[in-house]
Amino acid sequence: MCCARLPAALAGASKDPVRPVLSSRGLGKERGTGLNTTGRISGTVRTIIGISGSSGVIYGVRLLKALPHDKVLIVSSTASKILELEAGIDMSMMSVLADETYDDSNLFSPTASGSNVFDAMVVCPCSESTLAKIANGIADTLITRTAAVALKEGRKLILVPRETPLSAIMLENELKLARLGVTILPASPAFYPRPESVDDMIDFVVGKVLDQLGVENNLYKRWE
Ligand SMILES: Cc1cc2nc3c(=O)[nH]c(=O)nc-3n(C[C@H](O)[C@H](O)[C@H](O)COP(=O)(O)O)c2cc1C
Repeated sequence: MCCARLPAALAGASKDPVRPVLSSRGLGKERGTGLNTTGRISGTVRTIIGISGSSGVIYGVRLLKALPHDKVLIVSSTASKILELEAGIDMSMMSVLADETYDDSNLFSPTASGSNVFDAMVVCPCSESTLAKIANGIADTLITRTAAVALKEGRKLILVPRETPLSAIMLENELKLARLGVTILPASPAFYPRPESVDDMIDFVVGKVLDQLGVENNLYKRWE
């Protein structure tokens, strides 16, 4: 499948009006430089990006591009197939967008342990299956285990479901997680900024994720 019609999410010439600067709500703290013993590059914010098997994988691609370093990528098996189907993107193209990439089936990867410190995790998009596992403490994939680590260690966790309509089970899972402090950020582009393209609609959702992470960005037109 050809990538000629890909949204700017993957294209190198994206407008990328993202400043890798943390706002006062940001997650970063003053840190030194150089490697340390926790698995992170000191002086950067370490974010785990999970992409699970939902439609809308392009949101995850755009997020990966927009985030500042240090970026760790985990793509589920179904998501890797949907990436090919919806966007013509394979894993070799994805891995160049991240600092580290791990297989979702490899539970021996660094992020499976709470001792590997990261600042935040975003699952974007998040399938309702992955969301249900996270809500119920099932940690049988690297994405769900890393989310369990985020929960137990009190780290920022953002889930971006796309599914519609939602069953009562899905709504209950989302409510349960929201009550635990997880940010449920549905992939729902707004229309008040008058989007002119699919890229604008993608950027709205990704901009909202970056807002939650405290990453200053100008990905969408704000209400004034
Ligand atoms: C093309 C395609 C699109 C899908 N879209 C969604 C979706 O939007 N939301 C969802 O919750 N599941 C969706 N699914 C179903 C999930 O992929 C399925 O539940 C899978 O088990 C999720 O596994 P994972 O969360 O480990 O990736 C989709 C599946 C396929 C093949």
